[in-house]
Amino acid sequence: MTTIEKGEQYVMNTYKRFPVAFERGEGMYLYDESGKAYLDFCGGIAVNSLGAGDRGLVGVVAAQSWRLIHTSNLYWTKPMADLAETLVTRSSFDKAFFCNSGAEAVEAAMKLARKYGADHGRFKIVAMENSFHGRTFGAITATGQKKYQKGLSPLLPGIVHVPFGDFEALESAADDETCAILLEPVQGEGGIIPAEREYLASVRRLCDDRGIALIFDEVQCGVGRLGYLFAHEYFGVAPDMCALAKGIAGGVPMGALLARAKFAAAFAPGDHASTFGGNPLAAAAANYVVSRVLAEGFLENVRETGAYLASSLEKLSRRNPAVLAVRGAGLMRGAVMSVPTGPLVGKCLERGLLTLGAGADVVRFVPPLIAGKPDVDKAMELFENALG
Ligand SMILES: Cc1ncc(COP(=O)(O)O)c(C=O)c1O
Repeated sequence: MTTIEKGEQYVMNTYKRFPVAFERGEGMYLYDESGKAYLDFCGGIAVNSLGAGDRGLVGVVAAQSWRLIHTSNLYWTKPMADLAETLVTRSSFDKAFFCNSGAEAVEAAMKLARKYGADHGRFKIVAMENSFHGRTFGAITATGQKKYQKGLSPLLPGIVHVPFGDFEALESAADDETCAILLEPVQGEGGIIPAEREYLASVRRLCDDRGIALIFDEVQCGVGRLGYLFAHEYFGVAPDMCALAKGIAGGVPMGALLARAKFAAAFAPGDHASTFGGNPLAAAAANYVVSRVLAEGFLENVRETGAYLASSLEKLSRRNPAVLAVRGAGLMRGAVMSVPTGPLVGKCLERGLLTLGAGADVVRFVPPLIAGKPDVDKAMELFENALG
């Protein structure tokens, strides 16, 4: 049996997978079982911040594995304490909670907001249409796309949706019972749609005026992806809580919720937990990834390569009418297409380029943050070739 046949027989049918099985990777390239190389502009869906097989990350994971992989959160470990220190001292937040995924980080944020709100008679969470927050029941309820919620009713009560970017709609939905407003500064799965800076600034003022917690879901756009450690630094608007995951540990599963002291204080021992959350292995990996992201020149490269990717896509759109528009920031870019994106992503794969769809009509480019201009040139060549 091949890997694909075995997977199809024994693995639950929740993904529409491409007919390829990967064996190894090096930098910007992955190699399938036959040895064919693929230029990676998917990055494990915005996860592999340092690409594949980064020597430093592999060394840290190996060394930490020999020392200690897991202890539970009944005890302290240095990698977790160090990670919390770095994230807090580099931001406007005061406390961190660690978990294993984006959905779990969003759950933690919603629970913390409700806990805080409970003392003030507030429970309602206003989220955005076209958003994506993950697959657990809370996160899927907050997700403003009906297609992900089909067959799951009844969903979590007390979550409402307003159009993303419509401040008046938000203003009228956010009432005395609202404990939190939840949004992605750049909608990822929804189609790479960045918020307007002025909109986010207005949302910030609204939250301050009405005593509402502002939660940013930076699971996809955070940890360097926009050319800043945090996505909200790109927008110049600081939330009260920030959910992180995906790229934070370079592929080792990890999520985090950062919160300002006033909100973080709503959690007491026993209120929330996660067995694996912030375990020494994942935290050591995250410490290494964050140190690399903060190292001199790293974020400059993201900004420069990201701008180059955007201008290359724009140039392509002038040559090829199938590319209607280009959206995004940093190394999170989307090409809005006039042709179906599913088959196009498949054609890219056949030619040795990994991309993925976002929303109904967008091809998404979220490569490892180590991508350089020659990688962009090669990706554009393969993409244009796939467009035909
Ligand atoms: C913005 C955002 N939030 C949350 C999630 C869920 O993350 P996970 O799949 O790690 O649970 C995702 C995943 O794509 C995401 O893009």
